[in-house]
Amino acid sequence: MNIIVTGSISYDYLMRFPGRFVEHILPDQLHRISLSFLVDDMRRQWGGCAANIAYNLALLGERPYLMGTVGQDFGEYRQWLESHGVDTSLTREEPDLFTASFFANTDLDGNQICSFYTGAMARARELSFHNVSIRPIDLVVISPNDPQAMVRYAAECQELGIPYLYDPSQQIVRLSPEELREGLKGCDLLVVNDYEFELLRQKTGLSAEAVQRAPKRACVVTRGPGGSTIWTHDTVYEIPAVPPRAVGDPTGVGDAYRAGLIKGLCLGVSWDLAGRMGSLAATYALEHPGGQGHFYTPEEFVRRFREHFDDDGALDRLLSGKGGPCP
Ligand SMILES: Nc1ncnc2c1ncn2[C@@H]1O[C@H](COP(=O)(O)OP(=O)(O)OP(=O)(O)O)[C@@H](O)[C@H]1O
Ligand SMILES: [Mg+2]
Repeated sequence: MNIIVTGSISYDYLMRFPGRFVEHILPDQLHRISLSFLVDDMRRQWGGCAANIAYNLALLGERPYLMGTVGQDFGEYRQWLESHGVDTSLTREEPDLFTASFFANTDLDGNQICSFYTGAMARARELSFHNVSIRPIDLVVISPNDPQAMVRYAAECQELGIPYLYDPSQQIVRLSPEELREGLKGCDLLVVNDYEFELLRQKTGLSAEAVQRAPKRACVVTRGPGGSTIWTHDTVYEIPAVPPRAVGDPTGVGDAYRAGLIKGLCLGVSWDLAGRMGSLAATYALEHPGGQGHFYTPEEFVRRFREHFDDDGALDRLLSGKGGPCP
C-alpha cells in the first residue's frame, strides 16, 4: 500500500515548573508582564500529527511516506523515523528554518503556558502532489498542518482522483466554512473527536446527519475513554475503547487511533474490526509518554487484540502481511 501521510511534524518541549504560576502573576502589573520560570525538568519528544500517524502505521507493518516540511534540526528525528520504517523521502528540509516546535510549561496545578512555533511547517503549502512520482497512491492522510497546505492537498487529491482521509482536527478553527466544506466534499473518510465534530458541524452549517451519512464517505467520531462511532452510508458501528494497563499521557492517542483504523482498512477487515484496531493502537499510545513513546510488534498487537476481541482469525493477515479489499 502506498500511503502518504501529510500534516504537522514537530518537536515537543515539555517542561514542568515546580511551583504555581498564579503566585507569580501580579494582577496590578498585567500591562507589563515579565516572567521567567526556572524549570528543573524538561523532555523533548518526537511529535506532530503526521509523524505520529506514520510512526504507528510503521509499527503495524506499513511503510508509509511522510510528506511535509521540516527544519535544519531534523536530522536526528529523520533517523528515528527511518529506523522505525517510515519513508521520509517526501519530507523536505528548509535549511534556513527550524522544525515546528511546541513548548509547554506546566505548573503544579496543571496550568499551562504554551507556544507553538510554526517554523518550517509554514512552507508545507509549497508541496504538491503533482510533483510526487509515486503511483498508485492508495491513500493520503490530510491531518492538521499549515491551513493553506491542507486546502491545497484536498483540492489536488480531488483533481487527481486520490482517496483521502480528512482529519482537520485542531485546524478546524483556522479553516473557513467554505474550505471545510470543500475538504469534506471529496474525502473518503472523515475522522474527528466529538468536540471537533460539533465545531465542524457548526462552522459548515451542516446537520449532524449530513456529516455522518454521505453516500461516498465514512465518518468516524472518537470520544476518548467512551470509544468511537463509525458511520458508513448504511450502517453505524459502536466501537469500544480498550482499557489501558496504566495511564501515562494522552498525547497522540487520536493519531494512533487513526493509524490502527487505516491499517485495518488496508488489511480489508470489517469496519468493526478496523475500529477496534484503532482503539488498541490508541491504548498503546496512552500508556506511554508522547506520541511515539510506545513500541510493539505486529505479533504482540494481535495477541493483545485477542485478549479483548474475537477477530475470527482475520488479524492473521497482519502477521502474514497479506491484505484484502477495503470494505
Ligand atoms: N482514557 C482512555 N482509555 C481508553 N481508550 C482511550 C482513552 N482515551 C482515548 N482512548 C482511545 O483513543 C481514541 C481517540 O481518543 P480521543 O477521542 O480522546 O482523541 P483526540 O481527542 O483526537 O486525542 P488527541 O489528544 O490525540 O487529539 C478513543 O476513541 C479511544 O479508543
Ligand atoms: Mg485529536
